[in-house]
Amino acid sequence: MYDSYQCIMIEAKMLPVFVYGMSVLRKVSLEIDKDYEGLDQLIDDMYETMVASDGVGLAAPQIGKSIRIFVVDASRMEDIDDEPDLKDFKKVFINPQITDEWGEKWSFTEGCLSIPNIREDVSRHSNVRIEYYDEHWNFREEEYDGVRARIIQHEYDHLNGRLFVDLINPLRKKLIASRLKAISKGNVDCDYKIIYPVKK
Ligand code: NI
Repeated sequence: MYDSYQCIMIEAKMLPVFVYGMSVLRKVSLEIDKDYEGLDQLIDDMYETMVASDGVGLAAPQIGKSIRIFVVDASRMEDIDDEPDLKDFKKVFINPQITDEWGEKWSFTEGCLSIPNIREDVSRHSNVRIEYYDEHWNFREEEYDGVRARIIQHEYDHLNGRLFVDLINPLRKKLIASRLKAISKGNVDCDYKIIYPVKK
């Protein structure tokens, strides 16, 4: 007699990305419990979506879920030679809390899968301390600087309904206003599937 068991293959799916104008991007997301249904699949799908759309980070609101989780993968970034730590910067942050930000503010050109084809300089503190749970629900407290801190700050903002274009200088914001409007109408050329508000 032997135990029968099922081998379940989880296949990661690429999910459509919710873009500028979708209200889920403006909500404060909620923490999740350990028994959140389908969490492993969700994490796999988020990685798949991020990689397939060539992003270095993806937060749950960007796939339409108002929950506090984001994934990062900086291993394919171009300027990786300057920061070798980026190569291994691939992880999931569950229920993250930035507990401190410090260091001189510096400017870095940011982009976002929810705001296709727009890149703007954003000024943020150089260092962060973050508490979170990993995919095995181990509690972690870590400090980051440089581009890794930057990616964390950008993704963390998504969980609080904030987008990088909220942080750019007002003149630049004015200059890209029509392009933001176009994105919210689905008039944007990008090679991944997007979801934008449907006007009734
Ligand atoms: Ni983003």
